[in-house]
Amino acid sequence: MTGSASIDPTHALGIAAVVLAAGKGTRMRSNLPKVLHPLLAEPMINQVLRTLREAGVPPERTVVVVGHEAELVRAQVAKCGLYLTVEQKEQLGTGHAVRQASSLLEQMEKEKLGSAEQVLVLYGDGPLLRSETLLNLFTHHSATSPLVTMLTAEAHDPTGYGRIIRNPANGNFQAIVEEGDLTSEERAIREWNPGIYLFRAKWLWPSLSRLQKNPQKGEYYLTDMPAFAVEDQLPGEPLPVQTLLVSGEEVLGINDRVQLAEAGNLLRRRILEKWMLSGVTITDPTTTYISPTTILEPDCIIEPNSHLRGACRVGRNSVIGPNSILVEAQVGAACKILASMIEHAVLEDEVTVGPFSHVRPGAYLEKGVHLGNFAEVNRSRLGAGTKQGHFSYIGDATFGSNVNIGAGTVTANFDGINKNKTIVGANTKLGVDTMLVAPVKVGEDVITGAGAVVTRDVESGATVVGVPAKPLNKNS
Ligand code: UD1
Ligand code: CA
Repeated sequence: MTGSASIDPTHALGIAAVVLAAGKGTRMRSNLPKVLHPLLAEPMINQVLRTLREAGVPPERTVVVVGHEAELVRAQVAKCGLYLTVEQKEQLGTGHAVRQASSLLEQMEKEKLGSAEQVLVLYGDGPLLRSETLLNLFTHHSATSPLVTMLTAEAHDPTGYGRIIRNPANGNFQAIVEEGDLTSEERAIREWNPGIYLFRAKWLWPSLSRLQKNPQKGEYYLTDMPAFAVEDQLPGEPLPVQTLLVSGEEVLGINDRVQLAEAGNLLRRRILEKWMLSGVTITDPTTTYISPTTILEPDCIIEPNSHLRGACRVGRNSVIGPNSILVEAQVGAACKILASMIEHAVLEDEVTVGPFSHVRPGAYLEKGVHLGNFAEVNRSRLGAGTKQGHFSYIGDATFGSNVNIGAGTVTANFDGINKNKTIVGANTKLGVDTMLVAPVKVGEDVITGAGAVVTRDVESGATVVGVPAKPLNKNS
């Protein structure tokens, strides 16, 4: 391999990708297509598509071959970007699957999206592959100019996988033989085929028509292609097949739910190590779950039993957990989230939540907001320094800064038909068990008495008490 790190091989080579995802995944024993099974809280195909993007292969140069439950898979792929998809109506094998992508990739050339000169083939059920490995594959391919460069791996027991047959004289690649076609001698070979190849397009497309159905399985095997490349070698030309050995862990394919859990753990560990090395403390990696799209700033601490799902962000010096669940949450610096759930919400710096509170979608907590126990905030904004210490529900509301929300305060925001708004001004003190019957507007510096049921707007500076709440008569 040459040290050509300075060039961007993806663009220089004109790489397009074909992701095979048409198979049923019988061994998952599931109604859900295999590539949609969740891995760290997202469908596993998301991870494969992300790895491709990280390696410089964008959605518009990636064809996903769908088949089993095609529409479900298509819909998920569309959520990840403007991907090309093609349906393989009958699953006639990996070679047949790749052929389905040919017209789309030729079309690409015509539409001047940049021609697809090299075609990367990989699987939708192999989520552990790293983008660095793909970049190594691209660099190796561009440096050696073969017809195909493929990854290989070694295992003590590669039962079930295609084996790599090499020329005993010089070690050069000769062929891939599938499990069902192995001789007893070949069965002892430890080098196996992970199914990830980079083909020269000009050679690939015409050569695919040479594939014959495997007599045993009745499928067109893509694995026959590298041997054709060996046959096509011309004297004086570079070696037609290059191989790149990678760790077996990285090319673990998911066939059943045991492997799904195993892959989930490996991927999880990889993500946790990345964050620990970048300055995040993870107290107990065995009980911490962080999605690939979450971003953590240095000096945060993630305490045991915490789950950060989707694209969360946590700022410096914040402490998450123990026992917290964040879903698509934006958390600022120096926040503390103890045994609580935050979903689709934004927390500015120095916000403290918990134990046992629930910040729901559309909540926005400004700097220094404090939620104590059993506080629920839904589609509401709380101003800086506002405190909601004890069992309380705030929904569809806008609160100013430094409001004190007494224990048991509830916004009665739903009249059975509509969700109505509550507005509360800065520095207001809501007494315990205040009921805010929306729509209602409470001014600044207001005081409500314990048990007040506020049904009408309250002017700034007023004190209201009773059911329904009325201003205290200063003369009485
Ligand atoms: C394949 C390889 C084998 C390799 C193994 C690695 C072939 C013939 N064999 O075997 O050498 O060691 O992968 O995991 O390629 N797919 C389609 N359409 C089809 C058939 C398959 O899209 O018609 C997809 C599947 O969804 C799957 C992938 O291709 O993601 C691999 O297919 P699978 O049937 O699992 O191949 P293996 O028997 O595992
Ligand atoms: Ca497989």
